[in-house]
Amino acid sequence: MKHICAITLFVAAAALDGKASGFLSPSASPLTAKSTRLFAKERGSGYGPPLENISEAVGNTPMVKISNRLCPEEFLSAYHRITFPSNPLSSVKDRLALAIIEDAEASGELKPGQTVIEATSGNTGIAVAMMCAQRGYPCVITMAEPFSVERRKLMRMLGAKVIVTPKAGKGTGMVEKAKELADKHGWFLCHQFETESNWKFHEKTTGPEILNDLAGTKLDYWVTGYGTGGTFHGAGKYIKANSPDTTIVLAEPGAANLIGSGIKTERNDDGSPASSHPAFAAHPIQGWTPDFIPLVLEKGLDQTLQDEMVEIPDGAGVSMSQSLARNEGILTGISGGATMWAAVETAKKAPAGSVIVAMLPDTGERYLSTPLFASIDADMNEDELEIARSTPSFILEPAA
Ligand SMILES: Cc1ncc(COP(=O)(O)O)c(C=O)c1O
Repeated sequence: MKHICAITLFVAAAALDGKASGFLSPSASPLTAKSTRLFAKERGSGYGPPLENISEAVGNTPMVKISNRLCPEEFLSAYHRITFPSNPLSSVKDRLALAIIEDAEASGELKPGQTVIEATSGNTGIAVAMMCAQRGYPCVITMAEPFSVERRKLMRMLGAKVIVTPKAGKGTGMVEKAKELADKHGWFLCHQFETESNWKFHEKTTGPEILNDLAGTKLDYWVTGYGTGGTFHGAGKYIKANSPDTTIVLAEPGAANLIGSGIKTERNDDGSPASSHPAFAAHPIQGWTPDFIPLVLEKGLDQTLQDEMVEIPDGAGVSMSQSLARNEGILTGISGGATMWAAVETAKKAPAGSVIVAMLPDTGERYLSTPLFASIDADMNEDELEIARSTPSFILEPAA
């Protein structure tokens, strides 16, 4: 018997204007589509009226069905919700940055010209730098040493200053540094791990987008990991309220099973972590599971939004991300691979006909210097050299 696992990969993507994005035929079930062309906006019809500025391009990311090449035939057919292809800075954190800056502008907490600072594993910093560049705020980012250098360069390209903190201080070190700098200089601290703006924006946008795009088709499983927990808490809350029979699957690295340990994070008065979590160990899934349980995540866990927990084994995120690239043409980061791995495991035990949506948080291009690309050569390998030598002209032989 074939299992139908609809996996929607979510990648933080450029928000298309609501009118311009999504499926042309919202009443039709994507499950019956022979080709996505039947439902995608017709090419050549244009995006819609010009956007006022780049921040209008945040949200409304597409959902993509995966083929049967990714998991064994008998478990097949998944939908992925992809968040990267359309968010302007290619990650789920574009939503968070927009929400934090706009809420702080509206409350008056962020003053014109004031410096904005945040601690980040990279994607938030890139998104915050984008928002600051667009609105004219100076931007300072603190980021721990191990996160990929591509991220530092992207933030600097967007005009931000990047303060790199020592590896030994882990995530709590970069968070503490950001707070110290904000206090000393009177800068606006984004507080992504604590602020309600984070999960509320996902409740208002990500959750509704998923259910709307499924157009009445029942969502059986929704699979996500966590960094701040904003996606899990906000979209999860909306999905539980509007599709109560959906099973929410929350994944974390096996090497850093903070939730699984049952040990709570001690907090300062502002909700930030007071110390490093004892169950934390370094893991390769950048953007997931810092060395503390963020307040935003904890408040989602307190509502028991999660129905199932999955631990990701070492290496599974990298290899699944590579499989997604090679088999589906979907280029996502290590956390996207890890989420997809959890979705495929879910598909293996799901009843036939299940619809599964997995969240893909960012693009693989952000990982060129990381283990994700360690096996990818820049020079020609033997196979490529053989092809080059199969005709007489322009053969670049390797240096002796
Ligand atoms: C690569 C990556 N994956 C996943 C996440 C998790 O998203 P959230 O913070 O909404 O839990 C993040 C957040 O920083 C991220 O950068």
